[in-house]
Amino acid sequence: MCGIVGYTGGRQAAPIILDGLAKLEYRGYDSAGIAVKNNGGEMQIVKAKGRLKVLCELTSDGENLGGVCGIGHTRWATHGEPSENNAHPHCNDEKTVVAVHNGIIENYAPLKAKLMRRGYTFYSDTDTEVATKLVDYYYKKYNEPLRAISEFALHARGSYALAVMFSDYDGEIFAIRKDSPMVIGYTDGGAYLASDVPAILKYTRKIYYIDNYEIARLNANGVTFYNLDRDEIQKQSTLIDWNAEAAEKGGWEHFMIKEIHEQPDVIKNTVNYFLQDGKLNLSELKLTDKQLSEIDSIIITGCGSAYHVGIVAQYVIEDLARIPVRVEIASEFRYRKHVLTGRELVIVISQSGETADSLAALRDMKERGIKTVAVVNVVGSSIAREADGVLYTKAGPEISVATTKAYSAQLIAMYLIALKFASLRKTLTEAYYDSLINELVSLPDKISRVLENKSEVQKFASEMVDKKDVFFIGRGIDYAICVESSLKLKEISYIHSEAYAAGELKHGTISLIENGTLVMGILTQSELIEKTVSNLKETESRGAYVAVLATEGNDNLPADFRKLSSLPKVDEHFSASIAVIVMQLFAYFLSVLRGNDVDKPRNLAKSVTVE
Ligand code: G6P
Repeated sequence: MCGIVGYTGGRQAAPIILDGLAKLEYRGYDSAGIAVKNNGGEMQIVKAKGRLKVLCELTSDGENLGGVCGIGHTRWATHGEPSENNAHPHCNDEKTVVAVHNGIIENYAPLKAKLMRRGYTFYSDTDTEVATKLVDYYYKKYNEPLRAISEFALHARGSYALAVMFSDYDGEIFAIRKDSPMVIGYTDGGAYLASDVPAILKYTRKIYYIDNYEIARLNANGVTFYNLDRDEIQKQSTLIDWNAEAAEKGGWEHFMIKEIHEQPDVIKNTVNYFLQDGKLNLSELKLTDKQLSEIDSIIITGCGSAYHVGIVAQYVIEDLARIPVRVEIASEFRYRKHVLTGRELVIVISQSGETADSLAALRDMKERGIKTVAVVNVVGSSIAREADGVLYTKAGPEISVATTKAYSAQLIAMYLIALKFASLRKTLTEAYYDSLINELVSLPDKISRVLENKSEVQKFASEMVDKKDVFFIGRGIDYAICVESSLKLKEISYIHSEAYAAGELKHGTISLIENGTLVMGILTQSELIEKTVSNLKETESRGAYVAVLATEGNDNLPADFRKLSSLPKVDEHFSASIAVIVMQLFAYFLSVLRGNDVDKPRNLAKSVTVE
């Protein structure tokens, strides 16, 4: 989704802004633009379709643009095609009010009509031009920037992170947000704003999260916050404990492969954080043991890979804790006419903590009085702040659009929730519970072993590089692994793939199997292996090329199946954590071999803040 960066202070703004935008490239975008202004000078706006490097070339990495105050933007098109004309910043006719925006102004059409009746004309198809001209309208009416911004908020519906410069106010940026992320930072060198922390981490680790309907006023001397009544408010800053290097490639060719290799550490950090002296501490759920004991079912929701974590968790929690679990895609869940008893626990899983549908699902449940817990990676994000309790995954900044380490950390958080419920409900023997804790502690080493064998996966990927269709099949947790494996593959390699519950393929989809179609079987659940092998055989008899990913020691597999690296043994409840690593590597190597932009796959965004 769109990325915003702003800077005002004593230094040339454009290079800082372009550098920050580069750090937000992972969010996904199709055009970029920047506006800068020197004190007493003209507003300069440069925009370009395509990659940020086009904008950097046009401005010599910003050096050509003088000015100590500016805002920049990478746009992920919603209203209007990707083009220079639709790119942000947008401005009024006089170029005295200039703005960048992330989100969607839902009532942009009536607002536009109203502005047109008042003599405004429009040069782009965007809702952002409408937002900018709405601010301009109120600025002209009240001659006061804070008032103009708060009137904008009172009249605009939808979601926005909006940053505005007024040419009458040298060296100042005004910003407001509602349901779209925006962080503010300040150091002696000046004030910064951005859609996400990595953009400004190089300059400051002291970050202010602005809440919905809060206004920030930035200038070289600091940042002041206001509510919609324009009363000044005090805000606490948060110290970010990632260092700037965590958001850099550090010698790796892509963020994705770097993040894949960070998984042993990420899992270790997440386990260690919640396991103190061998004892599980989930006090951050903000629910007492008594409250947790009263819960009679769990509903898990999320989008994309976060939803896939929920599918794994459904099997794990139901089996270990014997409590009913339902998992549903947030964009469906939020529109359902739920039948609730009030004794449910809703768990929202989200790396970014900003996914619009997940946030809406959370709010809906809160309004109905249901207890909510978030499993989130980004500290201070909307979902983290609004849920009753939050378990933070310790994945650090995840830059690659295709998630790897955040998925793995989310799995850990969900296993821990399963263990917590199991211990409260006394569904496991003490010995088995302890062995599961030990298994979690041993996961990082086992994953490191999988990573050491990555060349096997690379070789397999090179053999499969021309495949047009791939099917992943498995049963139980293996099916849950298939779903994530398939998404990883298609999102970055652009090879069509589908995940099927192994028993379901023959009910229609098997008609797609042709000579050479790759069918990959995931075989980590010992009770289900024979059944899945039969299903693989069914596809093989129709011409499929069958490859399998199985746990070591599984020697009874048909000799003609192509075997991918054997997975280290782990308690089968946790096998997704091991198997997924191979599948992440497989997708990664295929994407590289096919010459794709691994970290920024086409059409995708890292953080989906629109519905
Ligand atoms: C996007 C990303 C996916 C991610 C999903 C949910 O589609 O590309 O990788 O799984 O959003 O994001 P969240 O931040 O809520 O986990």
